[in-house]
Amino acid sequence: MKITLSVIKADVGGYVGHSESHPDVLAKAREGLAKAKQSGLLIDYHVTKCGDDLQLIMTHQHGEENEKIHKLAWDTFVEGTEVAKSLKLYGAGQDLLSDAFSGNIKGMGPGVAEMEFEERKSEPVIIFMADKTSSGAWNMPLYKMFADPFNTIGLVIAPNMHVGFTFEVHDVKEHKKITLNAPEEIYDLLIFIGAPSRYAVKAVYSRETSDIAAVSSTQRLSLIAGRYVGKDDPVCIVRSQGTFPAVGEVLEPFALPHLVEGWMRGSHHGPFMPVAIPDSIPSRFDGPPRVTAAGFQIADGRLVGPRDMFADLSFDRARQQANEIAEYMRRHGPFEPHRLPLEEMEYTTMPQVAKKLEGRFSDLK
Ligand code: F6R
Ligand code: MG
Ligand code: MG
Repeated sequence: MKITLSVIKADVGGYVGHSESHPDVLAKAREGLAKAKQSGLLIDYHVTKCGDDLQLIMTHQHGEENEKIHKLAWDTFVEGTEVAKSLKLYGAGQDLLSDAFSGNIKGMGPGVAEMEFEERKSEPVIIFMADKTSSGAWNMPLYKMFADPFNTIGLVIAPNMHVGFTFEVHDVKEHKKITLNAPEEIYDLLIFIGAPSRYAVKAVYSRETSDIAAVSSTQRLSLIAGRYVGKDDPVCIVRSQGTFPAVGEVLEPFALPHLVEGWMRGSHHGPFMPVAIPDSIPSRFDGPPRVTAAGFQIADGRLVGPRDMFADLSFDRARQQANEIAEYMRRHGPFEPHRLPLEEMEYTTMPQVAKKLEGRFSDLK
């Protein structure tokens, strides 16, 4: 059976500030998606949140970029915005960059990760959701899952993974894409994806079967809007087991709270902290950036789950390390590399300050 898994998310209002989602907004979204399930448009759905982002996880048989599914998500976000406005939640409707839906939700503000696949005999998937960071945050974890034998031993000892995986990489600034094969092109791959503010891994495919293994949302809100509108807070879907990395290999990269862009005012580097879904409440300096993981078994399109994958003691050390790194980074205050380089900061006063002081600059002798 061919099914499509669509994860579409948006920040339609924060509670309190940008730290969390309000239960009434989630309840409204559940109402809308329940109707869509009743009408047969969706096979199943799960509504959750990551920090101030509302996450719609949906299964159906209409393929990727389907107008009806995208419209359903858009309408759900508009309805959520109404609730957010009535509660005067913070930044109500902040990710809805357009007034009217026009066929495809991409480019309109919300983040989208979708994949269509033939459901296997057993189909474990993990949906990663992040708050206070941008789409390049998945680059290192996806590289480790699908190309690093120190993370994924299956690449070395599982016959059906040994040929490796193909990475589709997007240049989010030039709107170009390239496909590279691991393991033989990993040095070429890394020169791009090691620069995650510009190059983001969009998808990964098995070279054994050509099946889709992972897909991420690569929208950069600030590039769509041409101005600061919040960090992308991306999502990523990963299929697991069999010809794909095992669940433990998929989760393992997050044992390292690596540094990502985002955090306060989308203008800082901070550690990516893996947390249980209820703990995605970025509060210290609006962070540190969080990642949650919802695991499902898909059964004829039904979403059996979620299991809250980071609600596990074995990630305590990563959280503790993340908090130590957060403390260390915070001591840098307004200095790089805590503060992002000039061209990556989402907020800046540089043009005004430079203009004000223009006359006081003189040439170096
Ligand atoms: C970062 C984020 C927050 C806000 C900050 C200021 O992605 O959402 O850190 O940037 O709280 O928000 P405003 O400018 O809305 O007061
Ligand atoms: Mg927000
Ligand atoms: Mg957010």
